[in-house]
Amino acid sequence: MALSIRPLPGPLGAEIHGLDPRHLGEDDRATLRAAFVEHGALLARNLDLSPEEHIALTRVLGEPAIHPIPTIRMQGHPEIIVLAVDLRSSLAPDDPSADEVIGQIPWHSDLTYTATPSRGALLLAREVPPELGETGYIDTAAVYDALPDRLRTQIDGLHAVHSLGQIQGQIRHAGEANEETEGGSAPQFEQVVHPLVSVHPETGRKVLNISPAFTKAIEGLSAQEGDALLQELKDFATQDRFAYYHHWAVGDLFIWDNWRTMHTATGHRKRHARCMHRTTLAPTANLH
Ligand SMILES: [Fe+2]
Repeated sequence: MALSIRPLPGPLGAEIHGLDPRHLGEDDRATLRAAFVEHGALLARNLDLSPEEHIALTRVLGEPAIHPIPTIRMQGHPEIIVLAVDLRSSLAPDDPSADEVIGQIPWHSDLTYTATPSRGALLLAREVPPELGETGYIDTAAVYDALPDRLRTQIDGLHAVHSLGQIQGQIRHAGEANEETEGGSAPQFEQVVHPLVSVHPETGRKVLNISPAFTKAIEGLSAQEGDALLQELKDFATQDRFAYYHHWAVGDLFIWDNWRTMHTATGHRKRHARCMHRTTLAPTANLH
């Protein structure tokens, strides 16, 4: 099998052509690992993966992690979380709320509300709405490179406080199951602290580690100063010029390096169902 890797039409990521997860040779595995590190975001299309195949493909890039929130794990396959919403049976015919957009999740990197955020994720579309429902991605290494010198100097050495509870007021919870709505009040997630600038261990590049949905304060700054700085960083980092929005088709698999990207869900109409399966790469994954 000959894999080819071509850039996505946007500021980050690449598409893998020719991926057949059932027949992966050693060369293909090496190509995938290298592309993952180089591009930080990879798309493959038309994959009809069973849970076992999804998990096996995850092992090419690292060790599958068990997500810390039990209610979203797939029964029989705890390495997979199911991010799904289907409210169709609860909507009366001509229900005026059917066109409401639900399921928006603000920009974040996964699990930064824990001490060891995941290495990455492989998100597979099983059922998608005919409109909306995009996921946006931003390369936070590219964002760091583009920061004005003044901001780079200002954030050097600073640490941000992250908490899952921070997001609870920002999401319209309408029956969708995801980590942000399911885990917010769980007592095991104390707030944690991460450097605002981290150095990616494999590329050596600096990354703006901002995860806006989970970041609530900056250590050593007053609430007012910290909020202002976080807002300025968020406004800079989430400019359209940095973002790629993926419009999903069933069978699309999007793989991201969670240590150098953040993502957002734009939401979709209540009248439509959406179901995604995701595996998570453990932070201990060793690519070499
Ligand atoms: Fe996420």
